[in-house]
Amino acid sequence: MKILVTGGAGFIGSNFVKYWLKKYPKDEITNLDKLTYAGNLNNLKDIEKDKRYTFVKGNICNKKLVDELVKGKDLIVHFAAESHVDRSIEGPDEFVKTNVEGTLVLLEAALKHGSIRFHHISTDEVFGELPLDDPKAKFHEDMVYDPRSVYSASKAASDHLVRAYHATHRLPITISNCSNNYGPYQYPEKLIPLAITRAIMDQEIPVYGDGKQVRDWIHVEDHCIGIERCIKKGKIGETYLFGGDGEKQNIWIVKEILKLLDKPKDLIVHVGDRKGHDLRYAIVFSKAQRELNYKPSRTVDQWLANTVEWYVDNPEWWKPLKKKADVLAERYLEKRIK
Ligand SMILES: NC(=O)c1ccc[n+]([C@@H]2O[C@H](COP(=O)([O-])OP(=O)(O)OC[C@H]3O[C@@H](n4cnc5c(N)ncnc54)[C@H](O)[C@@H]3O)[C@@H](O)[C@H]2O)c1
Repeated sequence: MKILVTGGAGFIGSNFVKYWLKKYPKDEITNLDKLTYAGNLNNLKDIEKDKRYTFVKGNICNKKLVDELVKGKDLIVHFAAESHVDRSIEGPDEFVKTNVEGTLVLLEAALKHGSIRFHHISTDEVFGELPLDDPKAKFHEDMVYDPRSVYSASKAASDHLVRAYHATHRLPITISNCSNNYGPYQYPEKLIPLAITRAIMDQEIPVYGDGKQVRDWIHVEDHCIGIERCIKKGKIGETYLFGGDGEKQNIWIVKEILKLLDKPKDLIVHVGDRKGHDLRYAIVFSKAQRELNYKPSRTVDQWLANTVEWYVDNPEWWKPLKKKADVLAERYLEKRIK
């Protein structure tokens, strides 16, 4: 099978490319990535000489380039996106360009070249937020979209476009919406790698508000398995939710990381909350369990230690990213709550 992966130099995309080539030795992957601040070819060092793998630096909004790359492919797996909520508050334009317009360019090319199978990667954030005081409330596939940030609104728009191409043109699509990922090669501005790398360096760690916001953490490899199952077994036109059975408060995550690294709790600095911060995300993944035999094989309780160890063992990967990744953290620290 010939596959076009978009955004394969990012966190989840690079884990997916390596996972797929290992599991399917006869397949070929072309990775189209613009190499924004979040794209990093060092994520793919192990496979850069693999004959089954081709890297193309480029923008998914470039119609001519996308058209050339989509031609002759059997499958498109679409990860490329602007993915950080905080950045979408300060610079919304790129989110709409890449996440909405870029998805449209890919869909048009998929349609033009013989209705190519299209798997779209999305987020549970399209459903908005859940209350903190009702643990039974969880996101599920039949819920109404209610995005609350430019990031989630742009992802919601892209999901609607993907469904529209199925409804209108019968383009063979599937969509997966996933909760918060963690694992190796995550850009160190996101909570878990930010806390780990700053703790290793004895730097203060900003935590939004009281830190009681809840996320449902899924290990990136479980997410890759979920995507694989959608591609292989998913019903055309359907959407599947993937969670990690890993609801944790942000403050629990940071304290646990400090414990694992034997660092003092006073590295934690509470800072003014993110504007419109979603309180809680949690996922019911029973449809994926029933139809795709999906179940997360790792819990964050067990695998946070393994993730901390990966960052401890791979400073040559994250140290060159640190200065840029720390810019936002340093800005939040200026808003410390006294
Ligand atoms: N990280 C999570 O916890 C999470 C959870 C649910 C869903 N998702 C979704 O998964 C996908 C991947 O997320 P991630 O965390 O790996 O993101 P990331 O920010 O680590 O990587 C995004 C990649 O897309 C590339 N890219 C950005 N704009 C591009 C463009 N215009 N053209 C080509 N390439 C471009 C970047 O260079 C980067 O390599 C995204 O669609 C995101 O919405 C992420």
